[in-house]
Amino acid sequence: MTIYHISAECFPAAKVGGLADVVGALPKYLNRAGQDAKVVIPGYDTKFNLTSDFVKEFEGEVRLGPFHFHYSVERESANSLGFELYLIRIPQLFDRSGIYGYEDDTERFTTFQIAFLDWLTKTGARPDVVHCHDHHTGLVPFMMQHCFDFQHFNRIPTVLTIHNAQYQGWFGFDKMHYLPDFNAVNGGYLEWNGLINPLASAIKCVWKVTTVSPSYLDEMSQKANGLENLLRYERVKSVGILNGIDAEFWNPKTDNLIKNNYDIKTSEAGKLKNKQELCAEFNLDENLPLFSFIGRLVYEKGAELFPEVIRRALSGDTGKCSILILGSGDPETEERLRAIGHFYRNNYNYYIGYNEELAHRVYAASDFLLMPSRVEPCGLNQMYALRYGTVPVVRRTGGLKDTVIDMGDGGPGICHQQTSSDDIVASMQRAIGLFEDSAKLKAIRKQGMAIDHSWDSVAGQYTELYQSVATLIS
Ligand code: GLC
Repeated sequence: MTIYHISAECFPAAKVGGLADVVGALPKYLNRAGQDAKVVIPGYDTKFNLTSDFVKEFEGEVRLGPFHFHYSVERESANSLGFELYLIRIPQLFDRSGIYGYEDDTERFTTFQIAFLDWLTKTGARPDVVHCHDHHTGLVPFMMQHCFDFQHFNRIPTVLTIHNAQYQGWFGFDKMHYLPDFNAVNGGYLEWNGLINPLASAIKCVWKVTTVSPSYLDEMSQKANGLENLLRYERVKSVGILNGIDAEFWNPKTDNLIKNNYDIKTSEAGKLKNKQELCAEFNLDENLPLFSFIGRLVYEKGAELFPEVIRRALSGDTGKCSILILGSGDPETEERLRAIGHFYRNNYNYYIGYNEELAHRVYAASDFLLMPSRVEPCGLNQMYALRYGTVPVVRRTGGLKDTVIDMGDGGPGICHQQTSSDDIVASMQRAIGLFEDSAKLKAIRKQGMAIDHSWDSVAGQYTELYQSVATLIS
């Protein structure tokens, strides 16, 4: 089957978070299993990790209300990713260095989606499935169903994967004329709480909704930033499929971003060397258990609690340890994390920013990875941690609940109930206790490293889903 994934991010071409990792890996594994999966994203000006050349395949023009935009479609020529990657370049809207967060994001992503469908139409492409990811591509299913220009696609099945329902991309009906013409009676398919809501519209219009873990699907019927009732109503067409990880890219044995490679047999010595080097670089005591955090420094991830947790841990509440924080996000949290750096010079350090290479080294070197998330639709970092022999210390929520079992229940992780500094500190105490029992720590590391969270074992569930929607039209 030919499946077009349409997304705002795709590793290694453009990444902000886990969405990019999923869109950059799932298609590769689908193709290995015999599908024809392609990815389409906007062409940004970001200098990311992809150095390939692109060839121009198509040029066209689209209308967004009164505005006209020229666009071109380029394909990655080397075919080095395991799937065809297409960039839709729209000068004025996407030739910028960032991915999101601009005042005209509504105009940018709406134009991108119209250009995508215009390109398919003009080139006569007929995908078997169109797979949308998050709200940035959430208007595509509506347009395929109801906009006159694209209704010839209305029998092509659509799938929406919700990676994060916190962000929905809503905007006012004063911009309704941005959409290509449609019969006004269908306007309700765009609306939620009086606004045009691309995520809600996609949930209404797609043939199947997936969430990135089964627990997140359950939780969303209770709490989904205003979409609870809609998700409860559409539950029959929804399924939770746990994300996988790209176990080839994330492999401590072959990872060329880390200095000392290791596998399950050599993990103790390998991790120790990586830890010594990282501790030297960040001025941390290498003899103490090393806790790290990697991710966005936002409320959802519980990041604003870190200054207090660090203060409590390093003034004696947990037993001795070192802490390293890597990420960026909320400016106030960033500032507080910088400020406390002056007080705990040998046991705490931080890197404010996004750094893929450093992230790999931190997984390889750390003893424990902290993930006290309030919301975690899936979470990939705990799976990367397990693969690198780093024990995840997580709050039981969403995908964390589905992937990390507490050592008290025979699993290779440490779990707590609440996103609170009390719970995090208590878990750190348990972790330090584990660190002191080196035989048990070794066994738990190996247990974690042996778990298979690769896409190989998950991609089949998507294939089944695509087949199930394809049979609806045959
Ligand atoms: C979002 C979610 C995260 C998930 C990722 C990939 O970033 O917040 O939990 O792992 O998408 O699906």
